[in-house]
Amino acid sequence: MGKLIATTVLLLAAVCGTACAQSDSAVTRVAEGAAIVANRTVGLCVLCHAVPGVPASQSGSIGPPLAGVGARWSAEQLREHLVTPERFNPNTVMPSVARVENFVRLTPARQGQALLTDTQIDAVVAYLVTLK
Ligand code: HEC
Repeated sequence: MGKLIATTVLLLAAVCGTACAQSDSAVTRVAEGAAIVANRTVGLCVLCHAVPGVPASQSGSIGPPLAGVGARWSAEQLREHLVTPERFNPNTVMPSVARVENFVRLTPARQGQALLTDTQIDAVVAYLVTLK
């Protein structure tokens, strides 16, 4: 019996292979994105948006709640919201996470830096698409 179980586990491991490794890293990316969005000093998102899992008292209401954005927008559109938010509203107060100009009230330590790296943007988009 023990041997049968051991064989089954081995078989499953063989079948799983790279596919399982990929889904592991996808899960990690989503978790990283969630952490960035909920962090008040990294993504800044929670300063303006209600974020699922973050208490209302610790989140903003300048922008729409992020719950459901994965159903409202495609991954590509969500990336555009992050990188070029003015495409959706020319007068938006939402800062681009990828640019450095036009920031107001940034702490001196953050001057001259984009809010997020490309890897962080990928993680945030991966997380946002899960908010259906
Ligand atoms: C200074 C406030 C502010 C910050 C910071 C901010 N946003 Fe926004 N965001 C807005 C506003 C306001 C809108 C509504 C559209 C508009 O007027 O630009 C918006 C729209 C959006 C939308 C479209 C939502 C919808 O339902 O149409 C998404 C997605 C989004 N923001 C994600 C983010 C993420 C992720 C971050 C953090 C990386 C972030 N925002 C940071 C203010 C902000």
